Amino acid sequence: MLQKISITHFKNYDFKSFNFTKNVIGICGLNGIGKTNLLDAIYYCCFTKSYFTNTDSLNVNFEKEGFRLEAYFKNNEEEQKIICINRGTGKKEFSVNDIQYEKLSQHIGKFPAVIIAPDDVEIITGGSEDRRRYLDTIICQLDDEYLHQLIMYNKIMQQRNSLLKRFAEHGNVDKTLLDVINQQLINPGKIIFEKRDSYTKKLIPLIENFYYKIADNNEAIAFNYVSHLQTEIFENLLTQTYQRDCILQRTSTGIHKDDVHFLLNSQPFKTIASQGQRKSLLFALKLAQYQLLKNCKSYNPILLLDDVFEKLDEKRMYRLLHWICKENEGQVFITDTHKQRLINIFEELEVDVEIVQL
Ligand SMILES: Nc1ncnc2c1ncn2[C@@H]1O[C@H](COP(=O)(O)OP(=O)(O)OP(=O)(O)O)[C@@H](O)[C@H]1O
Ligand SMILES: [Mg+2]
Repeated sequence: MLQKISITHFKNYDFKSFNFTKNVIGICGLNGIGKTNLLDAIYYCCFTKSYFTNTDSLNVNFEKEGFRLEAYFKNNEEEQKIICINRGTGKKEFSVNDIQYEKLSQHIGKFPAVIIAPDDVEIITGGSEDRRRYLDTIICQLDDEYLHQLIMYNKIMQQRNSLLKRFAEHGNVDKTLLDVINQQLINPGKIIFEKRDSYTKKLIPLIENFYYKIADNNEAIAFNYVSHLQTEIFENLLTQTYQRDCILQRTSTGIHKDDVHFLLNSQPFKTIASQGQRKSLLFALKLAQYQLLKNCKSYNPILLLDDVFEKLDEKRMYRLLHWICKENEGQVFITDTHKQRLINIFEELEVDVEIVQL
């Protein structure tokens, strides 16, 4: 549970400190006041980066040089202090209980969290990259080895792509060198494939379960993890696509092309689902992520809900919040521009909510 966060020069914040004593926290305020930024600051402490941008300089207040985040958690009676300092010089410092990490990746999974933001519907409507990111975020929090292999795979694939470009520029191919790189790529590729395959098998029944819970009807949904590596071993795939890769000057096969297909009544979900159905699926995806993390960790992940009150009908919203705030025991942060709407909803649900007015 997050008990306190102090934010200095992060995005639109100058300096502000928040104390949290309850499990359900409503964050209210007008557009542009900093609700999403507060959620992102919490997310940052859990993931060592912003959910919304990979460019860290964008997280520094425009008028300042760097930022500092300080968060106090209490998980299973154990108090933990996270400090993140970005001095604007490039490398940031990140410590837990005053012990600094050698690599930021060591922090991933220690403070599990799930965020649901409006643009996340891209997981359903966008390209396969968004769905891989969804899977990666889950598995990385559960499996240190996965993150390690993923970093390695991406690095080797970049080397392979540069090599293919060099071949094209010089008009000759060093097949031996390419084979060496292929060999290096095969192992991480295989491991990532197997882990994605096994985690999606755990995840899919949870997604279905949550979707039916939110929708409360029998819309026929289905999910398939799709990978080139299901049809052929990676080594052969790389051999088969050798000529195409040389022409394209990039690696056209591998786990970086994986996807998850969502179906509604046997049709692609993204093309036929209504906005409310998409939003319901988004919640199902995220709550499945939440549940899987919860099953595997010794404490509840933090749930960050940004602007969730759009597009869902009252019944779906009620069922959703009932699960999130009553059936579930974890800490939840919910933003909304309407303070009274939040208060009313939680009164109806009989949930004790702490309101933060920005
Ligand atoms: N690096 C930064 N420095 C200063 N201000 C920033 C920075 N990044 C974002 N902002 C400002 O933060 C504000 C947006 O804050 P945020 O997205 O948290 O608002 P919000 O309360 O969630 O609003 P909404 O209700 O519209 O979602 C904008 O005014 C934006 O210009
Ligand atoms: Mg916002």
